[in-house]
Amino acid sequence: MGKTSIILDVDTGIDDAFAVLFAAVHPEIKLLGITCVDGNTNIDNVVANTLKVLDAAQAPDIPVARGALRPLLGQSQYAEYVHGADGMGDLGISPSKRKVDSRSAVELLRDLIENSSEPVTIVPLAPLTNIALFLRSFPETAKKIHRIVLMGGSASAGNATAAAEFNVWHDPEAAAIVFQSGVPITMYGLDVFMRPGITREQANELQKSSLKTAQFGGALALAFMERLGVSPITLGDYGAVASVIRPDLFTTAMFDVVVDTSAGPARGQTIVDRRDAFLRELEPIDLEDSAKVRVTLDLDVDAVVKLWLDTIESKN
Ligand code: RIB
Ligand code: CA
Repeated sequence: MGKTSIILDVDTGIDDAFAVLFAAVHPEIKLLGITCVDGNTNIDNVVANTLKVLDAAQAPDIPVARGALRPLLGQSQYAEYVHGADGMGDLGISPSKRKVDSRSAVELLRDLIENSSEPVTIVPLAPLTNIALFLRSFPETAKKIHRIVLMGGSASAGNATAAAEFNVWHDPEAAAIVFQSGVPITMYGLDVFMRPGITREQANELQKSSLKTAQFGGALALAFMERLGVSPITLGDYGAVASVIRPDLFTTAMFDVVVDTSAGPARGQTIVDRRDAFLRELEPIDLEDSAKVRVTLDLDVDAVVKLWLDTIESKN
């Protein structure tokens, strides 16, 4: 099986860390680089946390670049009640000796895509500020993107608000730019995001492992459980990465989607048109601002969880 070349865009974050661990270790993934953006926590924490996760994964020198330090228009709105003051569970992990790349996030995205001989999939797991800025800064390179598989949005309820999922809600204008870009998009949203999770027993087993990557994954999961007071705990962003290399484990369908960028109570909602064809033709969704998006609706939860566990326990 050939490798799939991907670039992650993260706001690490505990569940971004689950995704980075997986992407750095899985043999079918060629992790070209990681771009960091303001989201769960501030950009300095995001960069520091991402470098620490690469240490835990004992990953090779993968370029990590610093991106936007706030949304295009709004103010930052951190989720420290979920991810902790440092954005990664306040575990007191030693700072990494790795250095952040000298390029900005949009420059790294440009270079990695331009220099790749293979199709590149961008996997945003965070507010879409960096991706929107990249699309606007390097439109010729943007045409070379194979596809975008993003964690964000919802065809049902929100989490940041009743209507909106956090990544889209944090920067709705950026999300609208990305959705309307014409790049093929798969949306891994809240309809599936919470379902693949691990139990306290599984997390304890991982933490007792002799393998560094597994220990780190277990410690993160236990910290996540403590903060949210739930078990099983979702593997969150990881699911979007799994859907890139194992699409057979996921069920998707195409829908017209529009991002609400109004100032009202639905700001940041991804409005997914699930009506039947007759009504959609009678009164189409706002065709100006809508896009045809592949929406993830279901998954084989046990297989997706097993894939993560097997992968992070596969490397010392
Ligand atoms: O709504 C969930 C998303 O918001 C995840 O990407 C989580 O890490 C936060 O960024
Ligand atoms: Ca995230």
